[in-house]
Parts: sequence; C-alpha cells; structure tokens
Amino acid sequence: MALVTFSNPDHKDKTIYAVAGSHTETILKIAKENKIPVQFDCQDGECGHCLVRVTSVDDKERMGYHLTEKERTVLKDLGKLSQDDIERLMVEDLPSEWRLACQMIVRDEDILVEY
Ligand code: FES
Repeated sequence: MALVTFSNPDHKDKTIYAVAGSHTETILKIAKENKIPVQFDCQDGECGHCLVRVTSVDDKERMGYHLTEKERTVLKDLGKLSQDDIERLMVEDLPSEWRLACQMIVRDEDILVEY
C-alpha cells in the first residue's frame, strides 16, 4: 500500500491510495484513472512527455530502482541525468528522482510526484 501524492502548481494536490495489487500499475495509469492531467504521448518510454519528479513525502529513504536502458536514454536526452548520475545510481542502488510516469511502477512507499 502506498500513498501517491500528485502535485502541480496549476492544480490542487491530489493523494491517491494505491491499494495492494496495484504494484503492476504505472504512475501514468494511476494518474489517468484519477483524472490527474499528467502529460503523455507514446506511453512506451520513448517520447519523454510524461517526465515527473519523484521524491519521498516524509524524507524516508526511497527504494532503489534500476532504470531500464530505454528510460535512461530518454532521461539523458532530456538533460535530467548525466552519465555520471546514472552510474552513481546504479552503483549505490538508488532511485532516480526523475522518472517517466509511463515506466515507473508504484511500489510500497509513499511518494510525491511532481508533474
Ligand atoms: Fe512517452 Fe512516457 S508517454 S515516455
């Protein structure tokens, strides 16, 4: 179970309670189901339209996560991660704060998603 809070300066914050069994759902899917206007296009990790910033809501350490090759490439092209950042995240098993909403699966942690 996780609380996912969506935040955008143009919209009211909305917190979604992602129930057990939702662990196969992406941030984008949850946003769409809850009518949160996260931008998207390809929904396949290629266009970068669904870029979001993901942080912990309570300063707890986030769970480590390895980005796929595809997501790494897009985040690098968008200038959000450098090759050094990517190597550090992999070596230290840390999550990236920049993610593609269509690629990020919700996990058992409370997060803030800025879109
Ligand atoms: Fe294209 Fe997510 S919608 S990368």
